[in-house]
Amino acid sequence: MKVLVIGAGNMGLTYSEGMSQSPLLGKHNLKIYDTDPNKISTLRENPNFDVYESLEDCLPKADIVFIAVKPYHSESLFEDMKPMINQQQIFVSLMAGVTIDTIQDQLGAKKVIRTMPNLPAKVGKGVTSYTESEAVSRVELLMARNLLDTTGTSIHVDTEKYIDASTGISGSGPAYVFYFMQSMLEAAQKMGFSDYDSKVLVSNTFEGAIELFNQSNISPESWINRVASKGGTTQAAIDSMEDNNVKQLIQEAAYAAFDRAVELGNDK
Ligand SMILES: NC(=O)c1ccc[n+]([C@@H]2O[C@H](COP(=O)([O-])OP(=O)(O)OC[C@H]3O[C@@H](n4cnc5c(N)ncnc54)[C@H](OP(=O)(O)O)[C@@H]3O)[C@@H](O)[C@H]2O)c1
Repeated sequence: MKVLVIGAGNMGLTYSEGMSQSPLLGKHNLKIYDTDPNKISTLRENPNFDVYESLEDCLPKADIVFIAVKPYHSESLFEDMKPMINQQQIFVSLMAGVTIDTIQDQLGAKKVIRTMPNLPAKVGKGVTSYTESEAVSRVELLMARNLLDTTGTSIHVDTEKYIDASTGISGSGPAYVFYFMQSMLEAAQKMGFSDYDSKVLVSNTFEGAIELFNQSNISPESWINRVASKGGTTQAAIDSMEDNNVKQLIQEAAYAAFDRAVELGNDK
């Protein structure tokens, strides 16, 4: 199986690095293509994949093609690709808000898998949701899943609505967590902690809480109840958040990202 990744940016490189460790792909079976000459010369120093600066040289030979350019570059890219593709190839899009219909129309391809990746894929802790067009077989889907899983884990969803919805949860989600971290860092600094100590306090608190959550079947709400005693310090913080509707505001933020993903898809 030969895999081509188009776009060697954040996501394209992350998935390339992940897939290069996969036993499914032998040497020289992972190709990467980008239009930026600086990126190409840096990439050539990486022995894990073959680097191309011309689509003609790599696209026709690929079985699975990952598309990792920004959504606004997709239309002209598809125009260039269209004369070179064949109907057996599987196209896996990492692009936010570009629908399967749009990809099929503009590229002239039948087998399309649309995904929503997230940034922790960079450290092998990503979660990718994915769904497919009718023409993709079970075996092909499994193959694609194995490749996606090289960057963490993945969930299959039945419709594209859930790809847009997962944009609001996992796709944009790391930024919500960073927002929360930044708020706590600033609170720690205001309380007089050094930058270093603030970072240690905040990052270990997040890491510890996630570990507790992952190692149990206990819901976050139950963990809150375990930490917070009536009239205590934690309860004072939780009451303050509840009084300020923080939970509702976070949910509204997730829906804002979901709605924007749908809107971007409709713009295409
Ligand atoms: N970053 C995230 O956290 C995240 C999360 C979820 C989904 N995504 C999706 O992932 C996709 C990629 O995002 P990214 O952050 O990795 O973008 P990026 O860092 O800008 O990478 C895209 C790369 O593709 C290159 N490129 C542009 N047009 C091309 C073409 N016609 N042929 C080949 N290469 C081309 C770009 O070169 P230039 O720099 O020269 O334009 C750049 O190197 C986006 O569609 C985004 O919606 C990203």
